[in-house]
Formats: sequence, structure tokens, C-alpha cells
Amino acid sequence: MPATLERDFDRFKRELPRDFPAHVRETYRIDLSARYLGELVPHPIGKGSGQLSLNAGQLEDDAAAGLAFAVLKTVIAEDETGARTMAAWAIHETKMKVERRPAGAGRAGWTVTWKGRGWDRTFTEYLALVRAGRDLTRAGRLLVIPSVKYHLPRLAEPFREGEYRYTTAQLADAWREPPLLVEKDFSPTLAGDALADDREQILRWLREVPARIQGASPIPVRLAVKLMNARFDDRFQVEMVEACTAADTLVVFNRLFDAEQGVAYGGWDLSDRNLRVLKTQLTPGASPGLTGTGNICSGRMILDYARCGCESVQLHTFFQVPLSEYPATHGSRPQRALHALVFHPRDGLIAGMLELEARGELERRSGELRFLDLRAHAHRAG
Ligand SMILES: Cc1cc2nc3c(=O)[nH]c(=O)nc-3n(C[C@H](O)[C@H](O)[C@H](O)COP(=O)(O)O)c2cc1C
Repeated sequence: MPATLERDFDRFKRELPRDFPAHVRETYRIDLSARYLGELVPHPIGKGSGQLSLNAGQLEDDAAAGLAFAVLKTVIAEDETGARTMAAWAIHETKMKVERRPAGAGRAGWTVTWKGRGWDRTFTEYLALVRAGRDLTRAGRLLVIPSVKYHLPRLAEPFREGEYRYTTAQLADAWREPPLLVEKDFSPTLAGDALADDREQILRWLREVPARIQGASPIPVRLAVKLMNARFDDRFQVEMVEACTAADTLVVFNRLFDAEQGVAYGGWDLSDRNLRVLKTQLTPGASPGLTGTGNICSGRMILDYARCGCESVQLHTFFQVPLSEYPATHGSRPQRALHALVFHPRDGLIAGMLELEARGELERRSGELRFLDLRAHAHRAG
């Protein structure tokens, strides 16, 4: 196996086979099947919402590379008159800086520094992108999911139903066939905003928002809630998870907020915090499905999230690092990223799963190691 893996790693540096999950299954008897929002996907690696899912060209590249899914950039909800209570999140900013972010124990991860927020073009343009995503999804090439930031009221205020109703109905109309899959974003800039100073207010959102979205949709909807890293302690992160039981999936957890610099950030501080919270809160199988996000730059890190209960992962930063960071010599960034994440002979998904088997922490069933079985071992994590 190790020799085969070394050979695959080397030969796929030039080109990754489009159906690499089938190759992995045949060669290593490893089933990489994973799940996002109740949908079975061929492997666990998807793209998180952001600047890398803004147009049809990016989605086409993701489909060609063989990503499992892609979440579109977050759009700011509006009502039928075009009014948006969260308009402060629709600001235009193009400049991004990919840089090193030092963390404890001398580790330097990657972060993308960016002052922008949500989708900054019209809702009509967003709907055109949703239709492009729908076509890729129907063709079985790439599962594409829209992401929305809806109105979040202060404690004494009501929800603006009009924004929920209009935005969700338009998305449903563009998507056509049920169920409509949607991600609801609670972003780091929201965590850094005065709106998120009040714990009770945040918990109310998490208890009530899923039903608002489900109630607003003319067709059945499946909802992923992407939880923020609030500016409170780990215990509060757990409270947020516990408050959001009506979601179908939780994306855990969006980036940290650096109040001094006024920017969101990632790197090792982010994965340390996310994994710590997931390990302490976990009751396997009890909560909605989990999808991990945060500092996933290796197959081993995917396994860390999986062993905390995550059925898939969504990345952003690792698709943006300098080309010299990828061992592959050819291909798009998503292709090069997949090559490293899956086939790296020491830190890749295959190597990590074989190692878990050797340690007796993952057993073959009908001769196969299964990615989704890692979740059943979640209680052993930590
Ligand atoms: C430049 C940038 C823009 C982002 N925009 C969004 C967004 O609009 N909506 C959202 O839900 N997440 C957004 N994210 C968060 C990512 O989807 C991802 O969850 C997060 O960066 C953690 O993963 P990573 O460490 O692999 O980057 C953004 C991240 C970056 C770096």
C-alpha cells in the first residue's frame, strides 16, 4: 500500500483522475463517500462560501477538478421592494491578502485577510449564478448550494418576514425541484458586530431562524446553518450548537474575529478552537449533521474533523495559497488541493485512514474502510 500510494502521489502531480474516488476504492478499498446537507457525495471535500464561488467559471473549474460540492458566496436577503436590513454586509471589496498567521507553539498557518463581506452585485445576478449551479447539480457534476444572510433582529424586535419570504421564494423558483438546499451564514463580522454582544439575542436567532426559513419556502427546504465563532467562551459555542437543533446540518465554525485589526482570520487558532469545542460537546448522532470548516490544509486535518463527527468539510484558504505550497505541478488550484489532501503519502486522507486501521481505530466492513464510519468513532476522539 505505501509504495502504491507513493506512486499515485507522484503520477497524479501532473493530473488528477476526474473520478479519483473510484480509483481510491478500487486500489485501496477505501470508500470516501461523505455527506453534506443530507446529500451523499463521492468524497468529503467541498468549497466553503466566499470569494472563490462568485461566478460560473469558478464553479466549472470546481466541477472539472472533482470537488464534492461548492457553496456560493453569501447573498444578503431582500424583500420585494429590494430593502435589505443587513445591507451593511453587502459592501464591495476586491483586495485579498493571503498571508501567514502565527499561532501558539510556533505554528504558522495561512489566513486570507479581506475587508469585504457579502455578495455585492444585484440579487438578479445572484439568481443567475444559482441557476448555473442548479444545472451543474442536475448534471451530477457538482453539488452547488446558495448561501444567505437573512435579517437578524434585536431581542425586542420581530423578524422581517418579507425578507425571508421574498428571498427564499426567489431561490426556490431558480432551483425549481425540491428540496431547496440553503446555507444560512452567521459570519465573523457579525460576531464582531454590536448586534452579537448579547448572548440571549444570538440564541434566539439560532432557535428561530431555521423555522423562519423553512416557513418562508414554497417548496421543502433543507437548511445548513454556518455557526460563527462568537466572542464568548467555548461553553457558549456549545450552547449555540444546542440551540440550533432545527437545522438539518451545522457548519462548524466560521472564522475568528480579530477585534483589534477589525478582520476575520483563520489558521491554527481557528482549527484548535473548533476541534476543542467539537470534542467537548459531542454526543454522536444526537445533533444535526456536522460539516467542518477551518484551517483544513491536509487530509489529517479532515480526519480530525471527521473524528469529531463531521460528515464532510468545506475549505476556502487552502484553495488560495501560493502555487509553491502544493506538491502538484499542474492543474487548477482545486485539483492541486485535492491531490495533496487525498494522496499525500504522509498527511493525506488515504495515508491517515490506513494508519487508523493499523492502530485498530477504524475497521474494514465488507473489506472496505469507510470515511463515514469515522463519525461512529467520534466518541473516541480526544
Ligand atoms: C475571503 C473570504 C471570504 C469569505 N466569505 C464568506 C461568505 O461570504 N460566507 C460564508 O459563509 N463564509 C465565508 N468565508 C468563510 C469560508 O467559507 C470558510 O468557512 C472559512 O474561511 C474557514 O475555512 P478556511 O480556514 O479553509 O478558510 C469566507 C472566507 C474568506 C477567506
